[in-house]
Amino acid sequence: MKLLKATWDWIDDRTGMSTLLGPVFDHPVPAGAKWAYVFGSATMIAFIIQVVTGIALSASFVTSSGEAYASLQALSDPVNNPLGYLLRGMHFYGASAMVIMVGLHMIQVFLYGAYKYPREMNWLSGVVLFAVTLAMGFTGQLLRWDDIAVWSVYLAAAMSAKVPIVGSGIAHFLVAGDTIGGATLSRFFAFHVFFIPAIIFVFLGLHLWLVIHHGISEPPEAGRPVDPKTYRAWYHQYLEKHGVPFWPDAAWRDVVFGLAMVVVIMLLSWFWGPPHLGHPPDPTLVEVYPKPDWYLLWIFAALALLPGELEEIVVFVGPVIIGAILVALPFISNRGERSWKRRPWAVASVIIILMMIGSLWIQGVQAPWTPSFNAEALPQQVVNASSAEIQRGAELFNTQGCQNCHAIAGYGGQRGPSLSNVADRLTREQIAISILNGRRNMPAYATMMSPEDLSALVDFLQTRSERQAQPHTNPAGANTP
Ligand code: HEC
Repeated sequence: MKLLKATWDWIDDRTGMSTLLGPVFDHPVPAGAKWAYVFGSATMIAFIIQVVTGIALSASFVTSSGEAYASLQALSDPVNNPLGYLLRGMHFYGASAMVIMVGLHMIQVFLYGAYKYPREMNWLSGVVLFAVTLAMGFTGQLLRWDDIAVWSVYLAAAMSAKVPIVGSGIAHFLVAGDTIGGATLSRFFAFHVFFIPAIIFVFLGLHLWLVIHHGISEPPEAGRPVDPKTYRAWYHQYLEKHGVPFWPDAAWRDVVFGLAMVVVIMLLSWFWGPPHLGHPPDPTLVEVYPKPDWYLLWIFAALALLPGELEEIVVFVGPVIIGAILVALPFISNRGERSWKRRPWAVASVIIILMMIGSLWIQGVQAPWTPSFNAEALPQQVVNASSAEIQRGAELFNTQGCQNCHAIAGYGGQRGPSLSNVADRLTREQIAISILNGRRNMPAYATMMSPEDLSALVDFLQTRSERQAQPHTNPAGANTP
């Protein structure tokens, strides 16, 4: 104990450490700062986990398009490489934690009006940190270099190519050339490991400095508006009356919450393991339907659900609008009430945004726009065939993959329209032409199907009519004499 203290005294004397760290630990903070204030430090702890596990992972990751996938597979083997397995898991759940915590931190700061005068720059540097956190998630996923990753690069390049004027330049820059390959992987590696982390360090430093410089915002109280003319003097007085030293009176909650988060991350990594790699990338397979990691899934869902013509505009304009709103916020409302009890619109907008993200996310999980490749054959009572030919057509409907995209009576995928009553809509010829020539987002079957099969399939689809099947319950029946 004595030796420890003597060592510390020596280090402190020769470095002046305590004059640097002292104010950080002792500076007074508002006493009422409770659990709602822990998310910022939790984000930072998650980031530290990412730095540590990321450095460790980079030591075993091979940045070559031919070997990256295999090197990750070796890293994810719980039997031969338990440490790699744990580290990869922690890097994944740590990323999830960082996204969740940065989101909660933003919501809390917004609802508490903590971005108002004089903390506008805290908010702006936070917006940058939020954006680069998502960029880390995206570039990190690509390093897996499986089919999903490679497909995501295609998507990102195709999307950025749509930006006016500079678009093709950005796409070229992202892909590091004209085709996706080893150079692309190196480029994303450099972004994920050097470039974006450097931005994070700079802005995190600024962010933390600002937190200490302006002090932690006091818990808001309804009827105590912020007035830029008097705020600083008032805050100073407030701290003198209600301040407590940051350590340990306020910081213990950060420590407890942060430690709990680390434990949860480790448990998840150990028991659930790192995310499974997709298939190795296959450049000949254009038709993969990727699912990005959960925190990017809702963005993907939004893009997939947009009609094709709108996509081009939204991809470009959407992020600009969202960014502009986030940047403008502290300038539009930097004074007045801070308490959420007096800011119903703030509460409403948080609820609306969370509901939007939530429902997009559910859509993303169900992914109705992707074919369902394990559609079960139609049950007999649905087929209800009156001849062997129709029976065969029903089987072809499943074996030819129609059912991956089309449902009948609820059995099958949702990428194409339901065909439960296709005979009410289309004639024999129209159905046959659809199958032979294909449609938008539907392959043409002309070269893949014999005339006999086509005929059986069309016979079967001709039985799909709600008028015939349920003459009494179908309201459309009222029109037929
Ligand atoms: C990859 C998914 C996919 C597969 C596989 C597929 N379809 Fe389609 N199909 C679609 C889509 C999407 C549409 C709607 C296209 C449009 O809006 O023009 C469609 C439209 C149709 C239509 C017209 C429906 C209407 O109401 O206008 C018919 C009939 C049809 N498909 C039959 C089939 C048959 C039979 C098969 C199997 C041989 C099949 N489809 C395989 C995606 C698919």
